[in-house]
Amino acid sequence: MTNQIELSGVNKHYGAFHALKNINLSIAKGTFVALVGPSGCGKSTLLRSLAGLETITEGELKIAGELMNNVPPRKRDVAMVFQSYALYPHMTVEENLTYSLRIRGVAKAEAKKAAEEVAATTGLSRLLKRYPRELSGGQRQRVAMSRAIIRHPKAFLFDEPLSNLDAALRVHMRKEIRALHDRLHATSVYVTHDQIEAMTMADHVVVMREGVIEQQGQPLDLYDKPANKFVAGFIGSPAMNFIPATVNEDGKSLSLDLGTIRQKVAIDHQLQPGRKVTAGIRPEHIGTTGAGQGSFDVPIAVVESTGSSTFLTAATTPELTIVETGRGKVHAGETIGLIVESSQLHLFDQTSGMRI
Ligand SMILES: Nc1ncnc2c1ncn2[C@@H]1O[C@H](COP(=O)(O)OP(=O)(O)O)[C@@H](O)[C@H]1O
Ligand SMILES: [Mg+2]
Repeated sequence: MTNQIELSGVNKHYGAFHALKNINLSIAKGTFVALVGPSGCGKSTLLRSLAGLETITEGELKIAGELMNNVPPRKRDVAMVFQSYALYPHMTVEENLTYSLRIRGVAKAEAKKAAEEVAATTGLSRLLKRYPRELSGGQRQRVAMSRAIIRHPKAFLFDEPLSNLDAALRVHMRKEIRALHDRLHATSVYVTHDQIEAMTMADHVVVMREGVIEQQGQPLDLYDKPANKFVAGFIGSPAMNFIPATVNEDGKSLSLDLGTIRQKVAIDHQLQPGRKVTAGIRPEHIGTTGAGQGSFDVPIAVVESTGSSTFLTAATTPELTIVETGRGKVHAGETIGLIVESSQLHLFDQTSGMRI
């Protein structure tokens, strides 16, 4: 299958600032890709480069097999959907939808028909005569998407489109956007700083930091096998626990350094005795039991319940976060036993942060 979008060796400089560093990314037709990372890592710059709103400094950018480096935005045949919707306030929904067709010379009746068809797909049929100010946030977002859909672009580019919506609507719109993507057999690139959004919506997740792609792959592969400590800490909520550790003389176990607690745990592979590593374990992978019955005992400082799950904070150095489903019976101030299994440990080199 040909790739709909292909970036090779892409670099972007804003003056002296190096915003994108050697980006290599292939997006197959029909794929939903999420670009995720902390604020300022270059997500919007990458998306805007695809749209042609930024010029890349180095490398190749292809859309549907054609080199796009010097092609102006309107000739790239991609559609961008923004957080701010960017609707024309003095135009009705229908006029907002037909505008891009009309300026390209599509006849009025034909444009109207196209608007009606798209509106039927996005649930806007009854709202075509309204003005943006007469719509809810979710409805405006749908207009913004419809305006992209009506052009049948080669790719949809989304830049944090749900950030302005409240939590419940955001969860709803995630599903709606994904369903629309599936129905249209679209190719979508979706920028978000929210790893849950990325994980739940995308087929392929690209994790960025400081202009670099740290890792890309299927959502659960990133969760199961993060390539480095950054990705391990970024994907998953609450975040993975990181514990400094030293490989023991036998090379088959670690000594975890939890402040006053030194705990030996077995590891699955043979490592150089004395090697400094970081042991990672997800809060949901630590088991709990009564004091004296687990791998080791810890005092619990904080207990927080959301109703469906309970978050425990162990008073160790570093602190450990443990998540249990259900209500749990532990109270703050109690000492409990923790169960840590070697198969649940992620090991990272302490210096490079790379997965071992
Ligand atoms: N026009 C610009 N001129 C100079 N620096 C910019 C410009 N646009 C973005 N940057 C810088 O590039 C980096 C990446 O920005 P951006 O792509 O907007 O990040 P993100 O979308 O991931 O939050 C940031 O450090 C930002 O300050
Ligand atoms: Mg941005």
